[in-house]
Order: sequence, then C-alpha cells, then structure tokens
Amino acid sequence: MLHAAVLRSPHPHARIISIDTKKAESLPGVYAICTYKDIPGKNRHHVVTEDQPFLAEDVVRHHGEAIVAVGAESRELAEYALTLIDVKYEVLPAVLSIEEALKEGSPVIGGDNNIFRRYKIRKGDVEEGFRKADIIIEHEFKTPYQEHAYLETNGAIAVPGNSGDINIYSTTQCPFYVQHAISDVLGLSLNRVRVIQTTTGGGFGGKEDVPSMVAAIPAILAMKTGRPVKYILSREEDLICMSKRHPAIIKYKLGAMSTGELVAIEADYKINAGAYVTLSTIVLWRGTVHTAGPYRCPNVKIDSMAVATNLVPCGAYRGFGTPQVIFAHESMMDELALELGMDPVEIRKINALRIGDETSTGQVITEDMGMGLMETIEKAEEMSNWHEKRKRYENQEGEIKKGIGMSTFMYGVGLGAGGNFMARAGAHLQVYNDASVLAAVGTAEMGQGMKTVLCQIVSEELGCPFEYVNLIETDTSRVPDSGPTVASRATIVSGNALRDAAKKIKAEIHDTIGKKLGISPDVLESRDGGLFNKETGEKLMDFAESVRIATDRRQHLAAQGWYRCPTTTFNEENGQGDIYFTYTWVTDVAEIEVDTRTGQVKVEHITAAHDIGKAINPTLMEGQIQGGGAQGMGYGIMEEILHKDGIMITTNLSTYIIPTTLDMPDIIPVIVEYPYKEGPFGAKGVGETPLMGIAPAITNAIRNATGIPIREIPATPERILAALKNSKT
Ligand code: MTE
Ligand code: MOS
Repeated sequence: MLHAAVLRSPHPHARIISIDTKKAESLPGVYAICTYKDIPGKNRHHVVTEDQPFLAEDVVRHHGEAIVAVGAESRELAEYALTLIDVKYEVLPAVLSIEEALKEGSPVIGGDNNIFRRYKIRKGDVEEGFRKADIIIEHEFKTPYQEHAYLETNGAIAVPGNSGDINIYSTTQCPFYVQHAISDVLGLSLNRVRVIQTTTGGGFGGKEDVPSMVAAIPAILAMKTGRPVKYILSREEDLICMSKRHPAIIKYKLGAMSTGELVAIEADYKINAGAYVTLSTIVLWRGTVHTAGPYRCPNVKIDSMAVATNLVPCGAYRGFGTPQVIFAHESMMDELALELGMDPVEIRKINALRIGDETSTGQVITEDMGMGLMETIEKAEEMSNWHEKRKRYENQEGEIKKGIGMSTFMYGVGLGAGGNFMARAGAHLQVYNDASVLAAVGTAEMGQGMKTVLCQIVSEELGCPFEYVNLIETDTSRVPDSGPTVASRATIVSGNALRDAAKKIKAEIHDTIGKKLGISPDVLESRDGGLFNKETGEKLMDFAESVRIATDRRQHLAAQGWYRCPTTTFNEENGQGDIYFTYTWVTDVAEIEVDTRTGQVKVEHITAAHDIGKAINPTLMEGQIQGGGAQGMGYGIMEEILHKDGIMITTNLSTYIIPTTLDMPDIIPVIVEYPYKEGPFGAKGVGETPLMGIAPAITNAIRNATGIPIREIPATPERILAALKNSKT
C-alpha cells in the first residue's frame, strides 16, 4: 500500500504559473505524482454545481486548496516529496469577508459578482404589518465559523479491484456521494465503483461532501499505480481545508402589537460560503425557510444570499444553516419581551405555532406531522423552575451574576423540498437458517446510534430478539442509492425501508406457519421474539422455530425494502410551499453564571425539551441531547476560527477551543412525543436539534444576568468584558 500526501496552496488567492515535480519524482520510493493533468475523468466535484476542482488548475482560491498529490512508500516520504515540488505563484488580491465580497469593484471569486445564490420568502405584506405594529425592533447579528472537531480526521483508502474496478474505504456520512465523485474523477461507470463506509469517528456534517474530495486523491493515485493507496489527513490539514459551519450576518426586524403578537418579520441572511459553492446553496435554503422561527406571523419578507470569498468552502454542520438564524430570531424574541415588559416564556407562548397555523412558507401544521411545540415550552418552563429563578435573579448583588434564558425553534426533518429527488432509501434484510438476521441500509452510523435504533426497528417488526439482528457496514454495492446521512433523516428513511423489507419476510413466515398449523396467516402475529395467535394471545412458537420451518420449506427469507418520502414543495418566486413532511420542535433553557470581573461564563444547567415523535431509544436520545448540547455551548461561548490575511491560524485543537468534560453543564433531556404518522412507530429525528438552540438560550441568560445584549457569538470572556466596560461608561 502507498501513502498519499497533498501539496496545498499557501495563498488565499493566486495564479499558478508553473509546477515543477522533477526533483520529487526522482526520489526513490515515490511512485506517483499527480496534478489535474493526470485525472482520467472529470476534474470537477459535482455537488450542486460543478465549480470545485479536485486538484487546482490555473488558479487557487483558498488557503489549503489541493494542487498536487503524491503517492509514496510511506507517509513521511510522501510529505518529504512535497517539499521538493516547486510551484510558482502570482499572488492575487483576496476577498476575505462578506462585506468586501459585496463591495463594488472587488475581485470576483465566483457566482454572479460574488453571489452564489439568493433565496426569498414573501408572505403577506410586511410594509402593512410594520404600519400596524405598536412596536418595531431591529438588530444585526453575527455568527462565527464552527469546526466539527470530529475525533477521526477525514481519510480514505482506494484499492484497485478486478478488471479496472475500484473499491474505496471511506470515513463518510454519504457513501453514495463518494461513489458518484469517484465515478466522475476516474471516468468509471457507477457499477465499477464500490464504496464501503468504515467505522466513522464522528461526522456532524463534516463528512457529507468533503469525503468525496478526500477519496479522489487516493483514487487517482491508485489508478495510476495499480496499488492500494491510503490518505489520512493530519488534524492541521483537516482544520485548514475541510468544511466548516458558515459564518453569517443576519439583519432582523420585528413588528408586534402591544399584546405581544407578531405582525411582521423582515430579515436578511447572508452566509460566507468560501471559495466554492459546494453545499452552500442548500445550507442557505434550509436557513432561509427557518428564519422566521416557529411562530405565527402573517407578514414575512426574507432575503438571503450565499457569498463567495477566498476562504475555505463551508458546508454542512449539525443544523445546516439554521443555528445562525435561530440565534437571531431567539435573541429578537427576548428583545421583544424586554421592550414589552413581558416574560420571555409568555411572548413565545403567544406566538408559537399551533395545529392549523401556517409557517412563514405557508405550510399548514397538521396533527399528523406531530406537533408538540407548546408542550416543549411548558415542560422546559416547569422543569427549569423558570419563574422562581427569573424572580430570584432580578436584583443580584456581588460580582458573580446568575441568569436563565430560553430558546424555542422548529426543525424540518429530512431533505425537504430542496432534495426531493434524493428523498428515498433502500434496505436489504436476510434471515439465515440459524435465525440470525442480517440487515443492510444505505445510511451511515457515525456515533449517533443509528445502528442500534435500526436493529430495534427490525427486531420489533420481525418479532425476533434484538440480539439476532446484525446491521452491517454501509456498502454501495449492497443497497440502492439511499441519499446522504444528513438532516436527521436516517431513522425515518432507513427505518421505514427496513420495515418494508421485514414485512415481506414476515409474510413468507406467516404463510408457511399458517399452512402448517392449518390456520389463516391473518391471525398470526410476530412479536416479543415469537409467533402469537392474535385472537387467543397464545404463543405458538419462537422466532427461531418459525424460521427453521420456513427455510425447510424453501421459503424466501430475504427481501429488499424501499421507502419514498412524501413529496414536498417550494416555490422559488415567493418561497412558499410545504417544505418538510415533519418538524421536530424544541425548547431549551440555559442557566448560567457570569463572573463580571473576567467575563467568564459558566453554563451550569440546560433543560432541553424535544418533541421527536417517538424516542425509539431514550438512552441514545439523551446521548444526542448531551453531546449536541456541548457543541451548542461551544458555538455560543468558546469556538472561534481566526485568520490572518486569509491564512487560517487556528490550525489545531490547542487553539481552536472546544468544551471538555470539565466544562459540561448538567443537561437534562425532556422527551415529548407527538407521533409523526409516517415515521417508524411515530419517530421524527433528533440528530441535529440538540445543538441548535443552545447558543441563544445561553446569550439570553447572559442578558438576564448582566443586562448586556449579546448580538455576536461566541460570547467569549473578552467580548463580555468589553461589553460590561462599555455599559458602565
Ligand atoms: N452524533 C454523533 N455522535 N456523531 C455525529 O457525527 N452527526 C449529527 C447527528 N448526531 C453526529 C451525531 C448530524 S449532523 C446528523 S445530520 C445526524 O446525527 C445524522 O444521523 P441521523 O439521521 O441518524 O439522525
Ligand atoms: Mo447533518 S449537518 O445534516 O450532516
């Protein structure tokens, strides 16, 4: 096996004048050196558009962009070979912020004058709404980059297969994306590219599109040398050039009646996409349709844009463009409560969507979707002892101040109208004659607990003991294209596909046993590890015995399952439509302490009430809520990526600070279950929501403690201290 290393751009923007690889080539143990000229297929990574090259051609557009790939006997040798490659650059002026990118006369990096994409939502008449309003509030909010900081960095191994095929072992959320990308870059048809997802040490969105870019490197080298090639990124390399959460600027204007009722929302949402489109348009779209929050408002006008800069391309991160807008709308709800002298809980209850109400996109909320928003508010209020604490914190003496804050939001589960064409999933299920069950799906486990949850679903549907089921690693040759493992969709889509397959196998078993016992298969029921007579409740036999009988009679105990999600809609002209088939509803309460001498915030307690339809595995759900809570806290008060002249300087976890166990607050998960009719056993999804509302709950609590509004995160000690000083002068 060879090891790969990649020469990456030291400049944020430059023209490549020449590349000289002669010296490196003559190094013993170096087997291949590839530039874009050695790519047998297409040098464009297809995500939404095709603007990003796998290896740079004439221009590099961000620090860390890949230019040359080397395959050598060892990783050290490959890295040494990079130092012998001579690239001559003409440095070009770089565009390093949203503001600069939109300034007239700025260099154009991409899109239409640095605008990759715009979206809009138009509902009612905001001008009229603001005229009617008793009170109007307007503020601007800024949110930072966020790095996924998964335990395992990105990486892939490419192994040449039979007669020109290739096998890829990849740490990825989206094996089918990798399959398509490798098919493109090598010019092979899809049936010659097999991608196996290896045990993945966390993804959080950071292994959605980028694993394709990563796998292309060993794939190109493997094709050229005929040898297996391994490429694993160092932490520094991973931090510099892999995707991040988009930094954003959100302008938000609210109009409300003195009763607290919202009458107009106007917002402008801009994200810093970086040098290539990648997933930015979809991230922007999801953010845009969530900008108005989980509130009733007759008049809504939202505009959004993804802006091109000479910075690392941003992408998916748990919440996918919504944590940014949630920070804005939840800060605004607290502003409104403050202006009207109302309690933040009251203002949310007054405006919270109810069954029969319309979202900002005109989607009517139905009971079938599962709607437990109000209960999440009430439970969070009650469990956190909200009112008693708000009262207690009113007049605090001393330098340490306590505070409590709330956030409420909605989150569309699944790909929604932006991804109808991929809103399906397959499964393969097979029962062996020892009654053990093999399950395969197209979505990926990355620590979230999908494997356990799906095995539970199989066991429940087949009526076999949980221990009998083994879900194997995700492999593109095993099940049809099932789309990406994103948008908290795996439980619904793979769960339903597995149920579909299990029903077919169950029918074979019931048919055989019915015939053998001389009873109608309709009275048979599979549950609790065996076969029961539905009418008498009598247990007829164990699952294992029923399988033995069925296999003896040569029944077909293997099946493919398939699930197609309900179709969703979006009108480009006015942003109206039935965007998602279901929503998860959440209310978070954060309790914090601010040291006014240092600006340090300590988050002590979080109450997180989630309506997820049905908690198929409550323990795993708690794990999601606690882990996501930590990431949300990091986003709110700690995590920051710094650049100097377009060069990333936060290039390791010693400077990019994430929460550790010592920083962890108590996080109390509260399960609310309003079942989604189409979900497996009513389940919706809980993968991303635990992170999404934590930052504004904390900043609202900081305001409660200190009176200081936080409109830019992270609320680091420096920022809080500066604000405290300002407020005194
Ligand atoms: N939990 C762990 N432990 N590791 C992860 O990488 N990714 C999150 C979430 N929870 C992640 C995680 C993200 S971004 C998504 S979209 C969902 O899991 C995907 O899994 P699901 O569809 O099973 O919810
Ligand atoms: Mo999750 S950001 O949808 O991978």
